[in-house]
Amino acid sequence: VLGNALISQVAIHAQYGGVFPNLAKREHAKNLVPLLERVLQQCSNPCQGDALTKTTTEELRGLLAREPELHEKLIVFLQKYAKPEIDAIAVTVGPGLEPALWVGINFARALSAVWNVPVVAVNHMEGHMVIALLRDDKGIREQVLGNSGVQTIPYTLYPTTYPMLSLLISGGHTELVLSKKFLDYQILVATRDDAVGEAFDKVARLLGLPYPGGATLSGLAEQARKSIEMTSQWKLPRPMIRDDTLDFSFAGLKTAVRKTVEANSPLTEEMKLSIAREFEDAVTDVLVEKTMKAMDEYGIQTVVVGGGVSANSHIRAELTTRLSSVNCKLLIPPPELATDNALMIALAGYFRAAKNEFADLSTLCADGNLRLGKSP
Ligand code: KG4
Ligand code: ZN
Repeated sequence: VLGNALISQVAIHAQYGGVFPNLAKREHAKNLVPLLERVLQQCSNPCQGDALTKTTTEELRGLLAREPELHEKLIVFLQKYAKPEIDAIAVTVGPGLEPALWVGINFARALSAVWNVPVVAVNHMEGHMVIALLRDDKGIREQVLGNSGVQTIPYTLYPTTYPMLSLLISGGHTELVLSKKFLDYQILVATRDDAVGEAFDKVARLLGLPYPGGATLSGLAEQARKSIEMTSQWKLPRPMIRDDTLDFSFAGLKTAVRKTVEANSPLTEEMKLSIAREFEDAVTDVLVEKTMKAMDEYGIQTVVVGGGVSANSHIRAELTTRLSSVNCKLLIPPPELATDNALMIALAGYFRAAKNEFADLSTLCADGNLRLGKSP
């Protein structure tokens, strides 16, 4: 990995209590060029770009007609930077908020036109899955780099055996996905109502925590677990845990928290900690149980966990403990790569490019509801 950077919009959306689509789009248009600059500064000596031909200038104007701010910044950027040593550009085309996805797609098309490299369309959820396969091998790092002082980070990949099961848990998804071979997907079960991350965020809000409160809520739960005197005063349901199916439903759990909060308002700090813990325990119990059930049903050899909620330390620890008793490999990305990042999209793009799956730029478009197993 030559460079990796991230600009978060969390603080901007927090004041609205959730993601505000038009604001997200505007922020993308504002941030994409500075973000790319940040990455290029990590990976190469920036050198002056070539003057743009008249045709390319016209083309860029057309491609970014809807993003004038991005267009303006890109023109300045291209005067400063030459084409980096890349073979392709990976871009997320779904699932997600279409107005925001379009900004990325148009940017990728513009860079592709200037640098003359193909574009790879990536499914966001495939990114969450494949990033778990990335292995930061310290031994290889030393062997390759020695004391060279180079910033490049060499990664290897964990070997995987199939069938593989992926538990994908993010702000918009709760899914169990079966892979019989590499990059082959069959969704076994998808979100019925609230996704796990969404449930975390809504419960966090009920406890008065700022958006997105998933990680903060988990911090409270951890605090409650450490305090020995604190026994749980509350019992929350474990929805569908003994059900015959693999289905998940977290809306009822969120409603149970709302009723508990309303019945005991105003909550003391101790009550908040206790509710946070019971909620996190309930979610974890369900996720672990359903994962074990699917593993059993499909003779799973490797389990991958991905999506922002896989940064949750309690869920990670419980899955690790439960899976240690069965003969199955568990892969979970490090917390900083579990939440949305560019590296996961680059990696998925790399695998797709290796299969020669490049996008047709004339038909490339955003698909807010893109599902795994369906080609972008
Ligand atoms: O994958 P992600 O970064 O964005 C989406 O694709 O949705 O996931 C974001 C979600 C948010 O709901 C956030 O609250 C949740 O992941 N999240 C967590 C934790 N860190 C992030 N939920 C529980 N515990 C965490 N430590
Ligand atoms: Zn995500």
